[in-house]
This record gives sequence, C-alpha cells and structure tokens, in this order.
Amino acid sequence: MNREARLKILALLVAFLAGSLTLIAVVMFIAPREVTRPSSVGGPFTLIDQNGKTVTDANFKGKPFLVFFGFTHCPDVCPTTLYEISEVMKQLGPDANKTAALFITVDPERDTPEELKRYISSFHSGIVGLTGSQEAIDAVKREYRVFAKKVPGKDGDYTMDHTAVVFLMDREGRFVAPFNLSRSAGEAAADLRRRL
Ligand code: NI
Repeated sequence: MNREARLKILALLVAFLAGSLTLIAVVMFIAPREVTRPSSVGGPFTLIDQNGKTVTDANFKGKPFLVFFGFTHCPDVCPTTLYEISEVMKQLGPDANKTAALFITVDPERDTPEELKRYISSFHSGIVGLTGSQEAIDAVKREYRVFAKKVPGKDGDYTMDHTAVVFLMDREGRFVAPFNLSRSAGEAAADLRRRL
C-alpha cells in the first residue's frame, strides 16, 4: 500500500469515528428528552381550584397537561407565561378541552380561590388555578422539584422567587419534558396535539 492509499484509509477511519461519536452523543444527550423517562417529576396532589372545588391529579388522567408554578402578584414571568399558554390553547381550538394547564400558586397565603379566579379570568379558560394549604403546596412543590422563596419588599409587602419551568405531563400524568414556549404558539400547539 502506498502512502497516499494509507492516508485515504486513515482519513476515512477518522471520518467514521467522528460520525460514530456524533451519533453516540445525539443518542445519549438529545434522544432521551423525547422518550418517556421513569417519572421523577410530578406525582399525586390534592388541591383547591379557583371555584373552591377539590381537584386531584386523577382529574387530569387521560389528558396531556401543562403545569406551571407561580403567583398572582408576579410582575412579569407569570403573566407572560400564562399569556403564552393562552395563545397555545387558542391554537388548539376545540382540542383545548382535551388538555389542561395547571397554574399552581407558590403563594397560597394571598392566592385564595377567589383571588386565583379573578386573576386567571384574563387568560384562556383552559387554565386551572390551584391553591391549597401551605402543606399541600409544599408537597406538590417537592414533587415537581420547584423552588420558591419569599423575598421581602417595602412596607411588609413581599414577592416570590420561583422556578418558572412549564412541565409537560403525558396522559398518564408522567413528566415528558419542559414545555418550550419560545417557539411559535402554532408549533407548541402541534407538539401538544400529537400527545392527545
Ligand atoms: Ni412569577
């Protein structure tokens, strides 16, 4: 074998290895986001909705649903996210009934069912506001691995620092992936629709 042929084989080998490594990286780091993993996020809950009705995770069995934690006094992230979710729901049209978006308060002290009802009335009707005792809220926060912390403001007022992930849960109530709202509402709706 001459030098040129050896170099060619070497180049092919390098290309093959690089290709294989890329494939392995894709399979290891990208593919798992798309398959359903054993659920480590989410779980059973018993909370109170904006109408004062007791609601549990069982109410959403058979529907893919979104879960978002926040609070009604939130100045920006929560209203923006709820607006974006509303746009996705609008894109779903009648199919919006086959899914749900849960807005779980991290501030049950101020977010009574009445307060939640008033607040979510500005958004799509597919959004369910959920509150409960501090214990019930702490339990559901733990399940979803959500962080929330009171930050004191002026005159005894306070705000909340909180995790702003939108969780996509499948029809069995298992965590699928964080739901991406940075794409168009149409694309996000298509993603949700194919899980119906
Ligand atoms: Ni917020």
